[in-house]
Amino acid sequence: MALLPILLYPDPRLHKVAKPVQAVDARIHRLIEDMLETMYEANGIGLAASQVDVHERLVVLDLSEERNQPLVLINPQILWASEEKHVNEEGCLSVPGIYDGVERAASVRASALDAKGQSQTIEAHGMLAVCIQHEMDHLLGKVFVQYLSPLKRNRIKTKMLKALREDSR
Ligand code: NI
Repeated sequence: MALLPILLYPDPRLHKVAKPVQAVDARIHRLIEDMLETMYEANGIGLAASQVDVHERLVVLDLSEERNQPLVLINPQILWASEEKHVNEEGCLSVPGIYDGVERAASVRASALDAKGQSQTIEAHGMLAVCIQHEMDHLLGKVFVQYLSPLKRNRIKTKMLKALREDSR
């Protein structure tokens, strides 16, 4: 297992559109292990392959208190989204230290392959529904700050770029 570097907003690679996973093989199993390790190490609850510069449709999540219930979504698709929407405070490992409200469907039904390549259907409400939508956005090259006003987004961009410059000194 290995920790993978997480791309930081506004890295343009975060805006690449991911392609479907062609086969759930040893390479994908290794990537899943590495992404889970990276997510746990960073104290995140979700990580999309796009964030570690692999542009294939794969997401890992774990919303459990004990951090021992990983959920793997390969080639996920939203089958249904509720008309009811909620605003939730979101954050992202690619935009550390930034949290803001984003409106999303309160519930979704999604299908995906699991780590064994078996198809699964997930009924998600609350935080899980938020996370699935947030991570699936990453696969489309979309970061949550893109839902915020241009003014807020520019402030975040400036702050992130400043932090990057200070880190590289
Ligand atoms: Ni994110």
